[in-house]
Amino acid sequence: MAALLDKDPEQGRALADSLDPRPVSFTDPSEFLAHEGLDIVVECASQVVVRELGVAILNSGRSLLLMSSGALLDQELFDALKAASVQFGGQIIVPSGAVGGIDALRAVQADLESVTIVSTKRPEALRGAPGFAEYEDREIVEPVTLFEGSAADAVKLFPANVNVAATVSLAGIGPHRTIVRVVADPAAPGNVHDIRATGGFGEFRFRLVNRPHPKNPRTSHLAVLAAIESLRALVNPGLRVGT
Ligand SMILES: NC(=O)c1ccc[n+]([C@@H]2O[C@H](COP(=O)([O-])OP(=O)(O)OC[C@H]3O[C@@H](n4cnc5c(N)ncnc54)[C@H](O)[C@@H]3O)[C@@H](O)[C@H]2O)c1
Repeated sequence: MAALLDKDPEQGRALADSLDPRPVSFTDPSEFLAHEGLDIVVECASQVVVRELGVAILNSGRSLLLMSSGALLDQELFDALKAASVQFGGQIIVPSGAVGGIDALRAVQADLESVTIVSTKRPEALRGAPGFAEYEDREIVEPVTLFEGSAADAVKLFPANVNVAATVSLAGIGPHRTIVRVVADPAAPGNVHDIRATGGFGEFRFRLVNRPHPKNPRTSHLAVLAAIESLRALVNPGLRVGT
């Protein structure tokens, strides 16, 4: 039977109550890990949780689908997760999340020369991030570039905001060569991601204008749907296009 883990008992209970059939709800990671019948764990909590529980989940032979892909840019953690996956046979699955074009990036990976991603969000969507600290008490009335640099640095300054950049970098030319710009814009029409890739294959651009999830304004609706689609692809035999 399905189970969920949330360190906040209220959050866990509310989520469990909203699901049918109702999963068992845990607040203690070791009780959750001891629960039988779980083939795959979907992480949708934080990079910290991937660090704390990722290896233990894979060591228990389960697969791990993770949304907090920024955690994978920590090379030591990446190596430990990969080793556990190889040793115990569980997969590590990173959904395309709040972006698209991941399949195309992977396809041309060996032929890429540059990848840039510009993420534009409303200031309130960036609150609490270390990279937003100097703007917490200031009103932003026009677009402000908060950061421009590597994906590796971006995920440290915006750990809950630019997992998309991590995913793009993992599919493409890696966290040090992927250039990320984070823009706060009070007039942004949603969470906007502009991805541009160039190389011997030619060039492509993707622009996503994401609406927030109706139940969680911090998360793009597309990210949730992408996670569901990844699960669907895992369990459904038959025709698969683009993955
Ligand atoms: N890859 C993508 O495109 C993408 C898109 C959206 C969100 N995300 C990432 O997914 C993660 C979840 O996002 P969200 O908006 O749903 O977050 P959220 O803050 O709304 O929900 C996180 C939940 O995890 C729980 N939690 C936090 N730490 C925990 C711990 N140590 N143990 C157990 N439970 C814990 C919290 O209590 C909360 O209920 C974030 O890291 C976010 O950056 C990735």
